[in-house]
Amino acid sequence: QARTLFTHNILLIGFMGVGKSTVSSYLSKILASPYVEMDQEIVDKEGMSINKIFEEYGETYFRNCETNLLIELQKGNNQIISCGGGVAMRDENVAEMKKNGKVVLLTASPEVILERVKDSDERPLLRGHKNTEYISKLMEERRPKYEAAADVIVNTDHKRVEEIAEEIVVKL
Ligand code: S3P
Repeated sequence: QARTLFTHNILLIGFMGVGKSTVSSYLSKILASPYVEMDQEIVDKEGMSINKIFEEYGETYFRNCETNLLIELQKGNNQIISCGGGVAMRDENVAEMKKNGKVVLLTASPEVILERVKDSDERPLLRGHKNTEYISKLMEERRPKYEAAADVIVNTDHKRVEEIAEEIVVKL
């Protein structure tokens, strides 16, 4: 019988393609907690794709959508929140996460990430940059912020979702 283990939220952060959505969705099943995908919420609210939001309104607008949505979500409890890859880059967002949540950082090697994102057109930041050099560079730039935000860090390379989820629950 699945039961609720946490009252605060669990927020999954990390680079594009580390497996935040897959792991969040699985965690929500085993913990019987609602699952929220931030990217999808924004797409639904704005009525357009992430690419289109970037094209029409620019990145800052998208980042503000993320910040506003995070504040809304943090009013609820017990949710598994899959954050977009850039959400932890704003210190104010990280402060907001910490108010009512545990932050799980998922990591993966650039090679594994490339494999996972290479067929996706829905990542404006990787458009024309589908190579490990670019992914490594952006990942290294982001690493300090990701690590500073994390309560728990789990590498996902060559692991099944069940293993990753178990590691998270044990470490939390
Ligand atoms: C972004 C990651 C994407 C999406 C947007 C920007 C980023 O989410 O929010 O394309 O800045 O890392 P995923 O991490 O779910 O791909």
